[in-house]
Amino acid sequence: MMERTDRHFRVLVRTLTRRSLLYTEMVMGRAVLDGRGERDMDFDPLELPLALQVGDNDPSRLARCAELAQARGFTELNLNCGCPSARVRDGAFGARLMLEPDRVATLVRAMKAATSLPVTVKHRIGVDEVDGYDDMLRFVDVVAEAGADAFIVHARKAWLHGLSPKENRNVPPLRPEEIFRLKRERPSLRIELNGGIESTDAVLAGLREGRVDGVMVGRGIYRDPMAFADVDARVFGDDVAPTPLRAVLETMVEHARRWVARGGRVHDVSRHVHGLFLGRPGGRKARRVLAEAGAAADVDTLRRAIDQVVV
Ligand SMILES: Cc1cc2nc3c(=O)[nH]c(=O)nc-3n(C[C@H](O)[C@H](O)[C@H](O)COP(=O)(O)O)c2cc1C
Repeated sequence: MMERTDRHFRVLVRTLTRRSLLYTEMVMGRAVLDGRGERDMDFDPLELPLALQVGDNDPSRLARCAELAQARGFTELNLNCGCPSARVRDGAFGARLMLEPDRVATLVRAMKAATSLPVTVKHRIGVDEVDGYDDMLRFVDVVAEAGADAFIVHARKAWLHGLSPKENRNVPPLRPEEIFRLKRERPSLRIELNGGIESTDAVLAGLREGRVDGVMVGRGIYRDPMAFADVDARVFGDDVAPTPLRAVLETMVEHARRWVARGGRVHDVSRHVHGLFLGRPGGRKARRVLAEAGAAADVDTLRRAIDQVVV
């Protein structure tokens, strides 16, 4: 998620789950290639497994992105066919690409030819008037034929005109049944569900009886990371206890210290820890400490904030 799943939030999530696949924010293919995307390309190996998500519509650019993704050690390359922002719409990529399955097939072929990494596609159940189940099925069939390794489907259509990106994440209703049907009718494809998953219980409900192969969580884990502290045990079956909140907070202080030593700002890290305070005694005070310091927060501010939280 843009402005959310940067390296600092990914470090936070890794304290909670070793097994889940994490994703970068969407980065434009051009930015990957001309160096503007360096912030998005740089990560700590402890964040792995990590997918690089790219937004683009040009096969040769995407092929070069695929080579770079592999050289930089990413686990997977994911093509964004779900973002409905005006910039993306007018540039004819993101969700707009759902209207052109043949073009997406060409893009996937180009990426597959350039890398041995899995190439996956994140998309919507539909776009504009092209939002029937059969439209999505056709999109998936054409793109699967090109070799896409998985489809991660946001269970909401997008309107390219008239709704803001934020409205497009809330206004169109969730239609997960269509994704379960897709998995039933295309059992050999890897199909993953996205949209509205707020807890490990909801992840397990999605995965029940093989209805889908995976579940992607966006806002839920950003809002309340601790709601997913038990996924390795309950979803992946590992014999591990959930990481205690105190340990997550301490890891983030240490991470902030290391980041500052590299010339970064504490605020880059502290802006992502607010969700850890949700519903905890002292959590509001902790948020206030960080809010008052704002961009000027230092490691001591972060320490003072987390010391407000009773765990
Ligand atoms: C602030 C924000 C930024 C997002 N950025 C991206 C993005 O870069 N790439 C992407 O595929 N989806 C992006 N999304 C959409 C989410 O990945 C997800 O599809 C959507 O929020 C529905 O899932 P959720 O209910 O679990 O959040 C973003 C969502 C939000 C709230």
